[in-house]
Amino acid sequence: MYNIRKISEELYYLGSDDIRLELFENIHPIQKGVSYNSYLLLDEKTVLLDTVDSSKGKEFLEKIKVVLNGRDLDYLIVHHVEPDHGAMIGEVVTLYPNIKVIASKQAFVFIKQFGANIKEENMIVVKEGDKISFGKHEFTFVGAPMVHWPEALVSYESTTKTLFSADAFGTFGCLYGKLYDDDFNIELELLEEMRKYYTNIVGKFGVQVQTLLKKASGLDIKMICPLHGPIWRTNLSLLLDKYNKWSKYEPEENGVLIVYASMYGNTEKGAITLANKLKEKGLANLAVYDVSKTDVSTLIAETFKYSHLVLASPTYNMGVFPIMHNYLEDMKALNVQNKIVGIIENGTWACKAGDEMIKIIKEMKNMIVLEEKVKIVSSLNEKSEQEIESLMDSILKTL
Ligand code: FEO
Repeated sequence: MYNIRKISEELYYLGSDDIRLELFENIHPIQKGVSYNSYLLLDEKTVLLDTVDSSKGKEFLEKIKVVLNGRDLDYLIVHHVEPDHGAMIGEVVTLYPNIKVIASKQAFVFIKQFGANIKEENMIVVKEGDKISFGKHEFTFVGAPMVHWPEALVSYESTTKTLFSADAFGTFGCLYGKLYDDDFNIELELLEEMRKYYTNIVGKFGVQVQTLLKKASGLDIKMICPLHGPIWRTNLSLLLDKYNKWSKYEPEENGVLIVYASMYGNTEKGAITLANKLKEKGLANLAVYDVSKTDVSTLIAETFKYSHLVLASPTYNMGVFPIMHNYLEDMKALNVQNKIVGIIENGTWACKAGDEMIKIIKEMKNMIVLEEKVKIVSSLNEKSEQEIESLMDSILKTL
């Protein structure tokens, strides 16, 4: 049947691609869509691992029926209740009234809050280290609080050495038939979507991701089945390395990200002058964005990637340009750390943008603001061009 894939003799993929969703969580643009993954195990017992978003609910229920092929559904494991995975819990429980639901204690509270009714006798509460066998396959449950909600669990199946990782190791982008990581050119097709997903969805919770990575390092993992994006079976070390860097807030690359705001093009000229000078000096790794033309989720992903960040903003209402302000606040909310930051400010009178940006930057951990601040007074002149030269020198020295 449409989009049912066999992962092993007993394990099936029942997920769906969603290309029609414009904004994930109604906030993050996803031009390449997203997949909602769910898995069904046919052992001595039948076990459904998570559900999908309600937009794919009808086809999901049909797929379950097809794979079960007349058998009853014995268990549902809920790793994460957020509605992109938990929306169909109520329907599944209604359709299969004998089903036992396995989840964390807090997950059952959330399931009820979202309106699904599960009878007390059908609830199996699991906690860190609990094991349940369904025949040949034995699952060990591992707490993953705040990856990315507090109730989240992951589970490790020891026969196939598979980690069912919930939101962890997820990726934006439709699968379109490419089920495994090795179906993709990771650099060209996956990495940007991985980074965008991680930084914007899980980015805030680096400490908790580090805890999960430490737990995972004690397991012999051959395959990772997340709730979004491909199943990982080949490039596990690349995946773990990226997650390790992102969750430690370490830059992936030495390079410069310039993000500017500009009302009439004068601050933009300052930013582009710096970009040109850096390139003239041979800097290989440079990215430049206009904050008014780029969604903040893209800026956040790029911010996690680079070692150096240059922010250029005009003064607006005696403060930072509002869209730049929003980007800075998002950086703070997502715990961005460990950057070397250059500042370009502009003001025709009462120039405040620089000090305001520095104030917000200083509220983040381990951010070094370069002393060589550039001050543009309305438009570039000899003095501000000289300041750009000094900022360039300082950036190149610290790269
Ligand atoms: Fe994919 Fe936190 O839900």
